[in-house]
Amino acid sequence: MNHNKAAIILAAGKGTRMKSSLPKVLHPLAGKPLVTHVVDTCKEAGIDSVCVVTAPDMTPVEKAVSPCKTAVQAQQLGTGDAVKAARHHFESFDGAIFILYGDCPLITEPTLMQLFHAAQPTGMAILGFKPDNPQGYGRLIVDSKTDSVEAIVEDKDCTRDQHDIRLCNAGIYCIRDQRLFTWLDQLSADNAQGEYYLTDLVAIAKADDVRCTYVIAHEDEVRGVNSRSQLAEAEKIMQSRLRQKAMDAGVTMIDPDTVFMTTDTVFGTDVILEPNIFIGNGVRIGSGTIIHAFSHLEGVEIGNNASVGPFARLRPKSKIGDNVSVGNFIEVNRSEFKEGSKSKHVSYIGDAVIGEDTNIGAGTIFANYDGFNKNTTHVAENVFVGSNSTIIAPVTIQQGAIIAAGSTITHNVAADALAVGRAKQVISEGWAKGYRDRKRKKD
Ligand code: UD1
Ligand code: MG
Repeated sequence: MNHNKAAIILAAGKGTRMKSSLPKVLHPLAGKPLVTHVVDTCKEAGIDSVCVVTAPDMTPVEKAVSPCKTAVQAQQLGTGDAVKAARHHFESFDGAIFILYGDCPLITEPTLMQLFHAAQPTGMAILGFKPDNPQGYGRLIVDSKTDSVEAIVEDKDCTRDQHDIRLCNAGIYCIRDQRLFTWLDQLSADNAQGEYYLTDLVAIAKADDVRCTYVIAHEDEVRGVNSRSQLAEAEKIMQSRLRQKAMDAGVTMIDPDTVFMTTDTVFGTDVILEPNIFIGNGVRIGSGTIIHAFSHLEGVEIGNNASVGPFARLRPKSKIGDNVSVGNFIEVNRSEFKEGSKSKHVSYIGDAVIGEDTNIGAGTIFANYDGFNKNTTHVAENVFVGSNSTIIAPVTIQQGAIIAAGSTITHNVAADALAVGRAKQVISEGWAKGYRDRKRKKD
């Protein structure tokens, strides 16, 4: 059996219903562009040669899918014409060619493999599904004797009887027969929409005695994204898959429906996620770590047995070490907390490196921005920063130093030193009583 696989992903559609300046297939789903989901699923299925078909003004799509091949469909003359645009990449290709849509991101690797195997004996297989409402989809006309697809009829071209057929075309194909492009040359645009329908391929292949088998997929795998509400539907499905995968791998979620993550989120085991957590791109959470409710994480690597939140905001290029505690209302930005360090209450830590076992007191602010540049602060190990301190970067605080509460630190602090940067307290004995007496006498 020839195991060579290639894919042509159609993505030239304008996506007007998205009402967006961003090409439709670049809208993110669980943090990753729609089309990249399809490309990545192809890779999982061992498809090494992938070509994405775009419209002439879609350089951002070409960039997003690089290093995949791309082909430009000059005018949108239909799905059949779109596949033809990729022809030059596959002229000498010997193997199975998949055809997929860039706006159908939920397709999975096992289904592609099923389609691949279904195409083996006959040369061609198509993915069908049975939606609750088949309106708008092409219908698969199945020959009951051979159980193969004889033709696909578009919704707009259906007869009254054909409209009642529930088995629909998902638009995903696997074609092993080398005559694919020869057949495409035979397509005509003589139909209700005046387009070159890729779907006519089935009837053309049949005329060449090629039987088209089919596989039935779950509707959730073949949902297309044409509007923002369909994007939200797809997101719901993708999130529930990601949550399931995380829980299967040993993550506890108290209320899974309120935890959002991306396709690249990495969890260790025995991670606990409390309700209402948003995890953006580039997050890794180590084993035994707990993320408390209402935390927002992006681009951060969190070690083992750490505690984050509630209400923590961890921003990109940050690193939270093992046994670190980053508590409530803490914002960490481009900063590192080394093992065992703590910042438990209401602080901003920007462009800082915090050494091991250092304690950052409540209300500490790292003033990292002078209006022009972002400056870095180094705090070494075993430092104690008292509450409500402002550390004005760039500054270095060496190991074992103590910063008195309420200090404004503008100069480096030596190891084991005490730094007090606040006005001295003045006590006037009895002053308060005298003040009150004076005031009361006046009245
Ligand atoms: C297509 C199928 C239909 C199927 C449905 C499933 C045809 C003729 N019909 O219909 O049987 O039930 O998908 O969703 O194939 N595209 C291009 N260039 C074009 C036209 C389309 O790249 O000239 C791309 C679009 O970006 C989109 C995909 O092909 O990703 C499908 O095109 P669309 O116009 O949505 O096809 P449907 O009419 O929905
Ligand atoms: Mg469509």
